Amino acid sequence: MNIAVIGSGTMGNGIAHVFAQNSFSVFLIDINQDSLTKAVATISKNLDRMVSKGTVTVEQKSQTIQRISTFTDLQEGVRDADLVVEAATENVEIKLELFRQLEQYTKSTCIMASNTSSISITKIASVTQRPDKVIGMHFMNPVPVMKLVEVIRGYSTSDEVTNKILDLSKQLGKIPAEANDYPGFVANRILMPMINEAIYSLFEGVAGVEEIDTIMKLGMAHPMGPLQLADFIGLDVCLSILRVLHDGFGNPKYAPCPLLVNMVQAGHKGVKSGQGFYSYT
Ligand code: CAA
Repeated sequence: MNIAVIGSGTMGNGIAHVFAQNSFSVFLIDINQDSLTKAVATISKNLDRMVSKGTVTVEQKSQTIQRISTFTDLQEGVRDADLVVEAATENVEIKLELFRQLEQYTKSTCIMASNTSSISITKIASVTQRPDKVIGMHFMNPVPVMKLVEVIRGYSTSDEVTNKILDLSKQLGKIPAEANDYPGFVANRILMPMINEAIYSLFEGVAGVEEIDTIMKLGMAHPMGPLQLADFIGLDVCLSILRVLHDGFGNPKYAPCPLLVNMVQAGHKGVKSGQGFYSYT
């Protein structure tokens, strides 16, 4: 089975990594050749980490890398794909345009999945003539480590396509969980209000950054505190998901904390910008 992955950023390279590691041929596509080169280097580095832990052999590492081919041309990259997983920038217009093109360039049997964290699958599917074959396949970061795939059924996604994606997720060694297509699905509908509440706790002076994170990390057995996790996800991404929840439900409980809005406006986006609730420089 051939898998095309669109976008070679953090999520795209992680998705390409797990498919290739599990014996699928992967066509990794990005408009930028430099990003593709960096993505393959990242996959190689993450595989090295696994080799040094003894979870992957040197031979398996080289086979994994060999299964990945890179493309800067979308049409060429998706032509022979049985499944496309789109992991491009989290921007509605970019995704809609990509799915319009996927409809033309893919085989009629091809399943078109999006790794979107909050954009409506039903809306994405509406720009194609095959909405039954459009589905959400939401991986978590870091993809090689995190066990979950949140599988999102759009309004018209067929049972057959849903079952194929559930099976495929298991073939990747992941545990899929199915959700219907409503704002934030399940993962972010629950995670983002927690992160927003942590930011409100800081904003209102209830506690400092480290105290909030320590309380939630040690008190709730979370691997990282909510403010550190927000930095890791990207504060701009958190803000945009909260806006999707706020607009989608029209409920003030999802309104993003003004401190989050200010930080994003100031360019403090977390790990990727070097500064968020913590400093990474
Ligand atoms: N590739 C391969 N292996 C990796 C890796 C990667 N990119 N990153 C980490 N690892 C491995 C390490 O090698 C290590 O393996 P062993 O257990 O075999 O030693 C293991 O993962 C743990 O890594 P570390 O020891 O370096 O560090 P850690 O114990 O702090 O774990 C973490 C790192 C896995 C990221 C952990 O901190 C964690 O689980 N954080 C929370 C992650 C999370 O919540 N992700 C979801 C974010 S939300 C999202 O993605 C969706 C959205 O829509 C916003």
